[in-house]
Amino acid sequence: MTKYQAPKGVSEYFPPRANLFEFVRDQLIAPAKLAGYSLIELPVFEDTELFERGVGESTDVVSKEMYTFEDRGGRSITLRPEGTAGVMRSVIENNLDRGQLPVKLFYVGPFFRAERPQAGRYRQFYQVGIEAIGHNDPEIDAEVIWVADSAFKSLGLTKYELQITTLGDAASRAAHRVELIKFLEKLPLDEETKKRANLNPLRIFDDKRPEVIAMMKDAPILMNYLNTESKDNFDKVKKTLSAMEIEYSINPKMVRGLDYYTGTTFEFVHPMLGAQSGIGGGGRYDGLMNQLGGQDLSGIGFGIGIDRVLLACEAEDTLQNLLPKLDLFIVPIGEMAKDFSVKLLSQLRNAGVRADLAYGDRGLKGGMKAADKSDAKYALVIGDDEIKSGSGQFKLMSSGEFISSTLTPSAIAKAIGI
Ligand code: HAM
Repeated sequence: MTKYQAPKGVSEYFPPRANLFEFVRDQLIAPAKLAGYSLIELPVFEDTELFERGVGESTDVVSKEMYTFEDRGGRSITLRPEGTAGVMRSVIENNLDRGQLPVKLFYVGPFFRAERPQAGRYRQFYQVGIEAIGHNDPEIDAEVIWVADSAFKSLGLTKYELQITTLGDAASRAAHRVELIKFLEKLPLDEETKKRANLNPLRIFDDKRPEVIAMMKDAPILMNYLNTESKDNFDKVKKTLSAMEIEYSINPKMVRGLDYYTGTTFEFVHPMLGAQSGIGGGGRYDGLMNQLGGQDLSGIGFGIGIDRVLLACEAEDTLQNLLPKLDLFIVPIGEMAKDFSVKLLSQLRNAGVRADLAYGDRGLKGGMKAADKSDAKYALVIGDDEIKSGSGQFKLMSSGEFISSTLTPSAIAKAIGI
């Protein structure tokens, strides 16, 4: 018989690690909700042109990594490689930008890039993202960064670093572009690289080849071409981050992998993840909405790679004490005890106690082994004596200590500290 395997390079989660994935995902969403962002649930495929126009043809994402196919109606469809273009499409199409601004949205789900798979780099991966659309206050830039930063902190991460930079306003970028193009024209670049430079000269800063890195050493840096307005704006972002006690460093050579960025851009990197160290990144995108046929509103957002954040948590070993465990595992001995336990179990769960039962009539030894494997905090054996007396001994699994309690849901919850 053929043994089927998952397609190459996809990330897949099943128990017990899926519990960690779920916990990380929910922690990443929580601060977005606290800050007033609402869920937007979007299709995982869109018209190919949306990404070509939105993300930009100079990017690896569009030129090499999209899963594009023709659907049965002959339309060119692409599995979403990122979230921002789709959010913009939906905001414009559904007039979400005609009400109160900023429009604050979050999303979570799978994304697809046909990259060469390696540790932390997958062809199907997961992101939590947020977008704040409608105002370009520097305080919103800081808020967006705060959401990501506090999510990482809530996961117990301490070793990640935040790098920020600014691409300035249109005038600053235009002034820099002229000088950068002059500089690039003097370099012995190959045809393909020249083509990319024509589409977006900033891309060449992101070239990983040592010879190109060497050539770009003295290239003009955008940070030196900022006009007063752009400088003031960036200063305000930095000041607000400091007021929020968020540590950052400035990386003036940062180039994000997507073409829509303007103004503040940022990346969170984790030094324990090797080559794929980017756990999240984002920035402002002033012209995107207009470019996609909407009004000329500014926006800012981020995408966090859930897969990589999970790897970072595992590298720092932060999840052991954070992950909620089962509160109680019940081991019934005999048919009567099982009937009694099943009823008690449903009452406990109704009262919010995380509880499970040794199914399969396994006896005391097998039942306690199952309790051990379940990683529950407490185990309770129920036999004839317990049913008769209406009380039981709760074994604290970490120490072997026993606590006794009446077998009513409220008494149990109190006894085991819920
Ligand atoms: P991005 O930097 O391309 O930005 O992706 C965001 C995050 O997704 C990365 O930092 C990384 O953690 C994760 N990621 C990207 N590709 C992969 C992969 N192949 N395997 C595993 N994880 C991956 C965006 O996608 C922008 N839409 C973010 C944004 C929103 N900017 C403004 N608003």
